[in-house]
Amino acid sequence: MTRITYLNGQYIAHENAMVHVEDRGFQLADGVYEVIAFHNGRFLDGGPHLDRLEYSLRELEIAMPLPRAELEAVTRELLIRNDRRDGNLYLQVTRGVAPRVHSFPKNPVPPTLIMYLTEPVWPTEAEIKNGVSVITLADQRWARPDIKSISLLPNVLAKEKAIRANAKEAVFIAPDGATVREGSSTNAFMVDANGALVTHPANGAILSGITRNVVLALARKEGITIEERAFTLADISTAREFFLTGTTTRVLPIVSMDGKSVCGGKAGPVAARLYTLYMAHIAAQTGDA
Ligand SMILES: Cc1ncc(COP(=O)(O)O)c(C=O)c1O
Repeated sequence: MTRITYLNGQYIAHENAMVHVEDRGFQLADGVYEVIAFHNGRFLDGGPHLDRLEYSLRELEIAMPLPRAELEAVTRELLIRNDRRDGNLYLQVTRGVAPRVHSFPKNPVPPTLIMYLTEPVWPTEAEIKNGVSVITLADQRWARPDIKSISLLPNVLAKEKAIRANAKEAVFIAPDGATVREGSSTNAFMVDANGALVTHPANGAILSGITRNVVLALARKEGITIEERAFTLADISTAREFFLTGTTTRVLPIVSMDGKSVCGGKAGPVAARLYTLYMAHIAAQTGDA
């Protein structure tokens, strides 16, 4: 079956989905994106993802390309046209096509809107059970990682470095050389020596991950103590657990950092419990077993 992509009002064969050379996303990374999982033909946390899309667009003064209800209709239509029930939706909006200058186009142009479906690559059972390795790197991103910008060069280089080190993810460390911010495409959590669940506050220095927020809500319901505060590399050395969250990562324990074992080299019970609750959250929302 032909893979169908949505581009600026049209549903077209994926291989024919092209943008102009002067698209500001292509030339200037002047745009934003979202990745939304779907299961059983239903989107997971679609509302919060589109809220964040609207936030990112607002912060960059890019117009919403379609009214929200129409945009949602396109997301549903894509599942039907591609006859897909499970996967991820990639959605990107750029400031549009205009002669290349850094400043915004003088005469407003319509934003470029792209949506297509991708194959999910979920963590394996072994990774969930045994945990994964990460490396740490200085956070070299711009100062607004709260905006889900397509300007991802530091994230690209970080992930490549992680893969070359046989690690799953690169975790960004703040300029103080100690504070753990988040992964290149994930948020980071630890369970401290007292059993509190700790994660960096969504204060502008990280992306406010949708999975992060769901996991916090699930943990709160479970009666787990939550502390949204900065934590450091030194804290990890005494932590019970350390793990990642993200749309494509779900809840993934970390057992090694920069080649050294952390948290006893074992995935812990809090991450396992939150993974189970997260999978139940998926099932409750999408009917996926
Ligand atoms: C930098 C960064 N942090 C965190 C996340 C996780 O966010 P979410 O749970 O919304 O997928 C992502 C996702 O791509 C990301 O790029």
